[in-house]
Amino acid sequence: MSAVAEVCRHPDAATLAADAAARVEAALAAAVAARGRASIALAGGSTPRPLYARLAAARAGAIAWDRVDVYFGDERAVPPDDAASNFRMARETLLRHVPVPRDQVHRIEGERPADDAARRYAEIVAAALPLDVVLLGMGDDGHTASLFPATADLDPGPPVIVTTSPVAPATRISLALGAINRARAVIFLVAGAGKAARLAEVFAQRRAGAPTLPAARVAPTDGTLTWLVDDAAAARLDAEGAPR
Ligand code: 6PG
Repeated sequence: MSAVAEVCRHPDAATLAADAAARVEAALAAAVAARGRASIALAGGSTPRPLYARLAAARAGAIAWDRVDVYFGDERAVPPDDAASNFRMARETLLRHVPVPRDQVHRIEGERPADDAARRYAEIVAAALPLDVVLLGMGDDGHTASLFPATADLDPGPPVIVTTSPVAPATRISLALGAINRARAVIFLVAGAGKAARLAEVFAQRRAGAPTLPAARVAPTDGTLTWLVDDAAAARLDAEGAPR
């Protein structure tokens, strides 16, 4: 396990979002300073919403959006205006509120046949690796992005794969594990009591060096790994982040 994780606990989702926003701003600024550009893959689901709202409300200039390329960790196989679309959620909470050039937002085309969308997105993402920041959530089954416990091969070679979710919409397009683990910084956002048991299991698997759950297999090769969790999700972890 190459990545030693930093675990930061927060009393609630709002302080978690504030910490996450500061970390994202710092990581993107460091990337721009070092390479003139920055890249971030946004997470879907509901947990990132407060973070995206804070990034949207940040003072002008906090992030040099004209230097940032925005990607997505995964997408549901639905059109971009569908209520289940991760792109729609990101557009409503963040992208329409910040001056990121439209051609620097690299949407997964969920409206296309999934294999076609995955192939097209893989060509775009392959040229962008390693991503500077990858934001991830964790499902209560231990999935992350759209890599599920039942997904046969999390890291088949291509940077983008089509997977099947046990929860509708079933067909998903996801960054593969290898693309995630090449990131310079991976930040997990996990909040809520419903995640506590699985988070403890993920941390136990990591500590044992025997990760099987997708969230446990995220271990950046050279990058940093940060878990931002609220107290409810961390209820089964001790002060050092070890499973009770
Ligand atoms: C998605 C996300 C998924 C999400 C987790 C947690 O497309 O749904 O990529 O991996 O991060 O399911 O979702 P919540 O943040 O809503 O709990």
